[in-house]
Amino acid sequence: MDNRPIGVFDSGLGGLTVVKALKELLPNESIVYFGDTARLPYGIKSKDLVEQYSKQITKFLIKKDAKIIVVACNTATAMALNRLKKDFKNVPIIGVIEPGSKQAISKTSRGKIGVIGTIATIKSKAYEISIKNKDKNVDIISKACPLFVPFVEEGLTNGDAINQVAKHYLSSFKNKVDTLILGCTHYPLLKSVISKITKQITLIDSASVVATDAHKKLQYHKLLNQGVQKGTLHCYVTDLPMRFEELGNIFLGEEIKNLHLLNDF
Ligand code: DGL
Repeated sequence: MDNRPIGVFDSGLGGLTVVKALKELLPNESIVYFGDTARLPYGIKSKDLVEQYSKQITKFLIKKDAKIIVVACNTATAMALNRLKKDFKNVPIIGVIEPGSKQAISKTSRGKIGVIGTIATIKSKAYEISIKNKDKNVDIISKACPLFVPFVEEGLTNGDAINQVAKHYLSSFKNKVDTLILGCTHYPLLKSVISKITKQITLIDSASVVATDAHKKLQYHKLLNQGVQKGTLHCYVTDLPMRFEELGNIFLGEEIKNLHLLNDF
């Protein structure tokens, strides 16, 4: 039995979609979440900078006694996961791209997979590489959807405006792919808007698949907390942006308690 927390990080509060999935799957695990709200967004930053931020945050979570690190941010996974795995060999580190790719391959009926994400994630080709490594016969179409993040952060997850934006980005996927990876922390909140356009296309929610992967990894490394007590959640952020509480509710589905502001990070 290991009651140390799971460390989760993201560029901001979007990674709380992963925390929500983890809490549902592993209710007795404690979680330390780091949201880099002062330096958000990562989706338009350089690889070097995202690597540097990700290393700094991983060190912080290890100091908080994290037994595993979950990189909830697709952009940080795409740009920094390999570096983190090389630099921090003593703690298991998982990202969202491997589990999302595996799930997509297992669901695709015709071997045609679509990927949507931030500009950085799509430009990195991390999903393509991961999918092709597993099955080189799969065809992949990728598209950056940069307007989705600000819409979700505005709470505009339904209505005419987001429907138009979704149509603009996603119409070209129709009849071309049978499975679509929602490769960004924010996109699970747009599932109903997206599915109105993509219709029969199977949507892969990277938040819930990474929770399942974290469970497997904890089991494999014998790190599961077998206790019966409900786990705690502590959230560390680098800034308290406007509408913080509202955003926390959007992503976590409940009020953020045990909040710590890191002014000097
Ligand atoms: N968390 C980022 C991701 O999943 C989206 C927000 C950002 O650009 O930082 O790619």
